[in-house]
Amino acid sequence: MQEFAERVAVVTGGASGIGRAFADRAASLGMRVVLADVEKAALDTAAGEISATGADVIGVPTDVTDPDAVDALARTAVDHFGGAHVVFNNAGVLVYGAIWENTLEELRWTMDVNVWGVIHGIRSFMPILLEQNVPGHVVNTASMAGLTAAPYLDIYNATKHAVVALSESLHKEMLMLGAPIRASVVCPGLIKTKITRSERNQPGTGTRDPDRSELSEGGALMSKFLNEGIEDGYPPERVAEETFDAIREERFYVIPAQEDVKAGLYQRLDEVRDERNPEMPGILAPED
Ligand SMILES: NC(=O)c1ccc[n+]([C@@H]2O[C@H](COP(=O)([O-])OP(=O)(O)OC[C@H]3O[C@@H](n4cnc5c(N)ncnc54)[C@H](O)[C@@H]3O)[C@@H](O)[C@H]2O)c1
Repeated sequence: MQEFAERVAVVTGGASGIGRAFADRAASLGMRVVLADVEKAALDTAAGEISATGADVIGVPTDVTDPDAVDALARTAVDHFGGAHVVFNNAGVLVYGAIWENTLEELRWTMDVNVWGVIHGIRSFMPILLEQNVPGHVVNTASMAGLTAAPYLDIYNATKHAVVALSESLHKEMLMLGAPIRASVVCPGLIKTKITRSERNQPGTGTRDPDRSELSEGGALMSKFLNEGIEDGYPPERVAEETFDAIREERFYVIPAQEDVKAGLYQRLDEVRDERNPEMPGILAPED
């Protein structure tokens, strides 16, 4: 896809972090922007700020775990702006811990947002993109955790591997169909956003205390590693820039990650190829 002006971008999780950067970049390219998020106040603020730049934007409160809400989001994009051309299935949450340490509520919630949210996005928007039969692009935000498997990030890793697989299937299906639609999967490393405060959006009971005092030693170590890494992480704008380059180049993999984070991916690819047992990547290995 080469032309962005006047086309319609839809961004889930668009009120913060990487989603907000996608929306800002889309607006700066003259796209009309449909901003979707479960956090109403943050959504209003983001939509107001983007609108103040002169862009055409609407904020649509949307919980991506609800298929009817995502269907309604798609209808709103069509009714308001006449279609949808670049769809960012980006909303996501992060939970630490080994599977047996997590509550069922947080495991199901993470699956619901990170996997079902993307599934709902694909189900609601693909018929629209295919029917339009003009250049379009689906961008699914996975993570480096979708290509590797660090300890004490179990459910997060599982959800992000699912997003990579769903995206790759979609990419191949578009080629088989000869459709003018392409797909990319974004696998960021450490990006400075509010992802380590995901519990702010967790519904119901089972919410962990933000100080995470009840995490196991392993979970606490991973939390500390990610909190520090994300605090010093790349700005989300860098992810948006690389992603729009990839859309133009019809490139599937977008991996805006630090070199030492990427080293863990290369190590894993070698382990799989050589059928070697997985080892701790250097970046996570205990210091001497
Ligand atoms: N920050 C990183 O280092 C990093 C690394 C790899 C991947 N990611 C992924 O990037 C994506 C964006 O996260 P971020 O880092 O910008 O974090 P963020 O918390 O700043 O933004 C996530 C947004 O998603 C929204 N959201 C949460 N649950 C939702 C729901 N049910 N429905 C709709 N919106 C919902 C939040 O309100 C928030 O606005 C996520 O999928 C995350 O897993 C982030």
